[in-house]
Amino acid sequence: MSQTDTALELPAMRVSYEEGVLDEGSLERTWVEQLQHWLDAASRASLPEPNAMVLATADPEGRPSSRTVLCKGIDDRGVVFYTNYTSSKSHDLIATRFASATFPWFAMQRQAHVRGVVEKVSQQETAAYWASRPRGSQLGAWASPQSRAVAGRSTLESALANINRQFADTERIPVPPHWGGWRIRPQTVEFWQGRRDRMHDRMVFALTGDDWRVRRLAP
Ligand SMILES: Cc1cc2nc3c(=O)[nH]c(=O)nc-3n(C[C@H](O)[C@H](O)[C@H](O)COP(=O)(O)O)c2cc1C
Repeated sequence: MSQTDTALELPAMRVSYEEGVLDEGSLERTWVEQLQHWLDAASRASLPEPNAMVLATADPEGRPSSRTVLCKGIDDRGVVFYTNYTSSKSHDLIATRFASATFPWFAMQRQAHVRGVVEKVSQQETAAYWASRPRGSQLGAWASPQSRAVAGRSTLESALANINRQFADTERIPVPPHWGGWRIRPQTVEFWQGRRDRMHDRMVFALTGDDWRVRRLAP
């Protein structure tokens, strides 16, 4: 295919970012408050999946992978998501104990970027969240060997049908042993607001010893 066959003029695609300002005066006191504030704003603006974040991990050889997950909790301990503990991402996390996650709020010309060490959330916390999931999602978590190759769609459908039968008389489906939450305990949290002429605002909360310090980065 020659280059003219592509519909998009990629080099010409650009937006001038003029929606907002983030400065030392408007930044919240803590990274938690700032992240909650921007999540609330993204939700109020009806952005699709405002709590979606792109999770980056690396394998023991340092080869990176990224994928989207849903943030299901934020407090001053960190940022929580749920997944399969035998998935590729969990293998990476078990091996390296380090992750980063980026919330891409393009419509608001914003992103937030969290980096830190990971830990599994407690079984009680996982159980509380599990109980809030629809039954169909619970059954899916039992049926899917996430990240593993499967022969075809029908293999998945029959795995789901088997699980459905297995739990047909069970009102409360238990948490699968291979499923639960990870918490990223941030060491840095960066808030990025797009500005005119690519002179964006980048404010970073960085953990230094026991103290959080704020600094501005060049765009
Ligand atoms: C909007 C969106 C939300 C997602 N949320 C989750 C999630 O919360 N947990 C999860 O395990 N996978 C989620 N996924 C699927 C992951 O992106 C990924 O395909 C899956 O977790 C397997 O990743 P891995 O093989 O790198 O471990 C989501 C995908 C999208 C597009």
